[in-house]
Amino acid sequence: MKQSRLFNYREDDDSVPPEMVRPRDDCKLCGLCAGRTNLVLPSGDLRSRVAFVGEAPGETEDNLGRPFVGKSGKLLDRLMKDEGLDRSKVMITNTVKCRPPNNRAPTEEEMAACRQFLESELYGKDVIVGLGKSSCRDLLGYEGKMGDIVNKDRSIVVRDREILFIPTYHPAACIYNRGSTDALRATIRRIRDEFV
Ligand code: URA
Repeated sequence: MKQSRLFNYREDDDSVPPEMVRPRDDCKLCGLCAGRTNLVLPSGDLRSRVAFVGEAPGETEDNLGRPFVGKSGKLLDRLMKDEGLDRSKVMITNTVKCRPPNNRAPTEEEMAACRQFLESELYGKDVIVGLGKSSCRDLLGYEGKMGDIVNKDRSIVVRDREILFIPTYHPAACIYNRGSTDALRATIRRIRDEFV
């Protein structure tokens, strides 16, 4: 049977912007469905001006159905706490909503299949923080080194709106790297000072 492509959040849920759509629970738009325990949908304040976009759910996220709740999430939480940014005041999401096998990066095709959902999540935001390579590849088409673009303002167009895009390191890249951690801290501080 042909699958309808879009699925709305509950219409009576005011916490969800009306334009936001999500995959069906039985989504099969790409091959990642084969290994999925749970879809991992955006968390935090879905109406926030700010979106953080990571790569893809890992094992813990797949088990719990929430983004950034495993090791990377713990580090992101700590940095946000240190810098005084309340995680519940921003939206956190990923390029794809299902866990890739063995935590590999999502492919172009997988990100393209999920882009309609990501786009609906990002529509109307004032700033997007791109956490790491997959996010920057998906949203900027950037294939170079993260070090060359981290914390340098870019902009992307989501439907009819231009949105500030700040590339930064993924928390997983910060676990044993002081320089990357400092750069991610600086991104978080800027979000706290200018947007929250
Ligand atoms: N890494 C990501 O990019 N996203 C998550 O949700 C968890 C780990």
